[in-house]
Amino acid sequence: MCGIVAAVSQRNIVPVLVEGLKRLEYRGYDSCGVAVHQEGALRRARSTSRVAELDTLIVEDGVAGFTGIAHTRWATHGAPAVHNAHPHFSPSDANARIALVHNGIIENHEALRAELQAKGYTFVSQTDTEVIAHLVDHHYAGDLFAAVKAAIVRLKGAYAIAVFCRDEPHRVVGARAGSPLILGAGEGENFLASDAMALAGVTNQIVYLEEGDVVDLQIGKFWVEAREGEGFVRATREVRTVYAHSGAAELGPYRHFMQKEIFEQPRAIGDTLEGVTGITPEFFGDEAWKIFRDIDSVLILACGTSYYAGCTAKYWLESIARISTQVEIASEYRYRDSVPNPRTLVVTISQSGETADTIAALKHARSLGMEHTLTICNVATSAMVRECRLAYITRAGVEIGVASTKAFTTQLAGLFLLTLALAQVRGRLTEAQEAEHLRQMRHLPVALQGVLALEPQIMAWAEDFAKKHNALFLGRGKHYPIALEGALKLKEISYIHAEAYPAGELKHGPLALVDANMPVVTVAPHDELLKKLKSNMQEVRARGGELYVFADADSSIESEPGIHVIRMPEHYGALSPILHVVPLQLLAYHTACARGTDVDKPRNLAKSVTVE
Ligand code: F6R
Repeated sequence: MCGIVAAVSQRNIVPVLVEGLKRLEYRGYDSCGVAVHQEGALRRARSTSRVAELDTLIVEDGVAGFTGIAHTRWATHGAPAVHNAHPHFSPSDANARIALVHNGIIENHEALRAELQAKGYTFVSQTDTEVIAHLVDHHYAGDLFAAVKAAIVRLKGAYAIAVFCRDEPHRVVGARAGSPLILGAGEGENFLASDAMALAGVTNQIVYLEEGDVVDLQIGKFWVEAREGEGFVRATREVRTVYAHSGAAELGPYRHFMQKEIFEQPRAIGDTLEGVTGITPEFFGDEAWKIFRDIDSVLILACGTSYYAGCTAKYWLESIARISTQVEIASEYRYRDSVPNPRTLVVTISQSGETADTIAALKHARSLGMEHTLTICNVATSAMVRECRLAYITRAGVEIGVASTKAFTTQLAGLFLLTLALAQVRGRLTEAQEAEHLRQMRHLPVALQGVLALEPQIMAWAEDFAKKHNALFLGRGKHYPIALEGALKLKEISYIHAEAYPAGELKHGPLALVDANMPVVTVAPHDELLKKLKSNMQEVRARGGELYVFADADSSIESEPGIHVIRMPEHYGALSPILHVVPLQLLAYHTACARGTDVDKPRNLAKSVTVE
């Protein structure tokens, strides 16, 4: 989702800003722009194309300067168009003196717009952001820091902003509430950015600004104030050394980041489970023993793919750890009346650790008196990790493709470990069971390599799928969430309409959709539900539906007319969901390639969803 990079420096900072935007591209965007202070005036370049095109514009127009702000926009208010792209200026004419970029959503923008129009401000975009630019200008009386503070107390909603002023050439002011913003302290220069990765190679001295912070950046110094009621007080924030990956954005021999990330899964799982030689709650934090002993249920909160990881974990938690588990879509949970239980372990799952809905759901759970919080998260420095008492950091590495792959399987690995730790505390794990689970976990990287070797067979199927308009995915038990994830992967990157059902539900309605044009992907591991699943498959065949089955090595399902079978190399037991999702990722990936879609940056989607 939207990205911010901003700087005060003593060198032409535009190349650094553009490089920062390139590093944030993976978050998803539909327009981009940069503004600088140049020869006593504000200059900007904006584009509805890629950052590479923006770079060309910058060179052609000779945009350069010591102080600047830059942005990638993911449209919320107003279409993706140049006039809506950030930075926004105020006043919006040749006398512009305020330049501003914003991530988030301003909920009271309509009222503020009317108020500012009445004061004579002209609006040239449909964005909520332009309201903030005019508001800062309205309050400006020679001190940008004071003007920003006066403006932000009027805002309702979520924002991270970076602002500079024509009349104070060596100053950038930032503020955040509900959207992430970090400060990077350099040698004689200072930066703001949406995440530390944007500044990789520029500075590793990072301050994670807190909710309500406003920061004044000047050459060689910065000053943070924290919101206190309607006012602000001086705040001290720790400068941390953060080693953000910069080399991760290299594609190597792969066509797309998604393909690279699918193939990285053996490494990612190996790293995530590194050091797991026995089961202990301590993997989740110092307080874990105490908390795990105190709980009687689990509530999982997450969105999208991370939510499906939670749905899979419910099967493990209830059957292995014998603990009652509820899984909720974060954006729903936060707005519904639920019955809180203070003895619940609230588990958030997030790749980015910055998903606004999940953070809000976590805060909502806490506000209901549920203080036992744990996150399974891929970003150690994220808001989610800072907000939770316990954490397990998955080590997938930076995930660039918008469609989550290695983050999902590493989340599952972390959740399986959580299941075993809870089982241990609850006296549900014998030494023999622990040893067997550990053996299977250690085998995962090798097992994944075997599954990845199925790619050529899956590519052949993808040719068929690329010609379809719809697809159904079936699974049962802990593989039903895997079917859901397979359908999500296919729709988000190939734009083919796909839905998933627990196979036993077919006859209750969806079977009406099945005909010879409907491919039905079936996740068919050799488990206790296979017999039932086979009957469901017969229901599909009887209606002329074409079955594409992922069966285990030892399963008795054979290919025949109308039934295509790819056999997984092994039978995987409890960890089977981690293996069975991989061919579905490959199927979606190759179908999207065959259809020529923008695999890594599917339309309308963003990587890090930092707005509600
Ligand atoms: C789909 C996908 C999304 C994310 C969701 C939550 O491929 O990536 O559905 O899973 O937006 O994001 P995180 O995990 O960052 O909280």
